Amino acid sequence: MPTAQRESVVDAALLERISDARRRSDALFEIVQADAMYDRPIPERHRIIFYVGHLEAFDWNLLHENVFGLSSFHPEFDRLFAFGIDPVGGGLPSDQPSAWPSLDRVREYVLKIRNSLDEKLLSNTGGQRDGFAFDTLLNVAIEHRLMHVETLAYMLHQLPLERKIPQALSSPAPASTITHSMIKIPSGAAQLGLRRGSGAFGWDNEFEAHTVDVPEFKIDRYMVTNGQFLEFLQDGGYERGELWANADWEWKRAGDISCPVFWREQDGSWVYRNMFDEIPLPLDWPAYVSHAEASAYARWAGKALPTEEQWHRAAYSSPDETGRTYPWGNEAPSPKHGDFDFGSWDPVPVNAHPHGSSAFGVEGLLGNGWEWTATVFGPFPGFEPFPFYRGYSADFFDGKHFVMKGGSARTAACMLRPTFRNWFQPHYQYVYAGFRCVNV
Ligand SMILES: [Fe+2]
Repeated sequence: MPTAQRESVVDAALLERISDARRRSDALFEIVQADAMYDRPIPERHRIIFYVGHLEAFDWNLLHENVFGLSSFHPEFDRLFAFGIDPVGGGLPSDQPSAWPSLDRVREYVLKIRNSLDEKLLSNTGGQRDGFAFDTLLNVAIEHRLMHVETLAYMLHQLPLERKIPQALSSPAPASTITHSMIKIPSGAAQLGLRRGSGAFGWDNEFEAHTVDVPEFKIDRYMVTNGQFLEFLQDGGYERGELWANADWEWKRAGDISCPVFWREQDGSWVYRNMFDEIPLPLDWPAYVSHAEASAYARWAGKALPTEEQWHRAAYSSPDETGRTYPWGNEAPSPKHGDFDFGSWDPVPVNAHPHGSSAFGVEGLLGNGWEWTATVFGPFPGFEPFPFYRGYSADFFDGKHFVMKGGSARTAACMLRPTFRNWFQPHYQYVYAGFRCVNV
């Protein structure tokens, strides 16, 4: 976006955030080799080229007609890059690279949208849509893009190393001894959700604010590490049906799954598949696994996954019952508190950020991997879908998705707010997500 010196009624901070989010998404596509742009690194997902057009098509479809009164200049692309190509018969997508437009044409479409939107953004008095303020719509556009920047990182993680262009890496955090323990959280209230009318932006599923009483429980001080998960695996965890829910066992059997997707066995030892290289399995990093694998581990350990309420209570409450915005207090997130906001490409040891501890001493709650909960994703009391994006949450209130809390190294700082809720289905291994356990 060109820098505008003149006054704009659109909040300058929001304009800067739009530019920053675009820089993030542009930079991510730069790690893909030119001849890999039509690859499909994850069978269930679109080819990479779809996402190049999708981020702009989303902004355009949200704003161009209803807010800015602009006509479409390419309705076919608006639709193609909103939804993709439907899989025939409802199975895995089977479209061929030739079904997609050339990269040059997609980039031309992207540039034209950016220019059209920027012209309006820099001069517009700010419109509404369906009664929602302009700021809300821009936050939707920004966070939609940033969420894709994170989920695209999972996707590109699965691209073969030779199809990627390595980026600068941060120096690895030094390994240290980890003493695992569980921390007692006294019974008390957990505050969830966002108050409508508070003025703060949140997605539809974050409303309404409410309080839940949580009985006393104990929770792991740290996320479960690769070292701990290796013990489960070596104890036959992947072969013992009694540790797995029926549907999870069937998924594991059908996919012949015998280890986390980020691990690979080579000559009798385990290798970890980083974004740009492979290294001996780092035992002190969080174990990134599916909900099914996390649940099987918890059963093996005689524990359980925390509920969303328990996770909230451990993260945001305190012994004197004063709430806080972040586990460490009310200070804005910074690198000393955790590994998030694009701080690294790969995880760090689970005990790398003691400054991020909660009031109860629970560590690593924000960043370094989302954390699975036992809570099925559903609406809070008072939920209302965004009329301009009705399916964002409601399409997933199907009893088949689980809430994740926390954040990964590729989660933007704005989505570290306590009310943000993430969710995935239990058999998706590719997310930067781990877990910690509670007592049963
Ligand atoms: Fe999207």
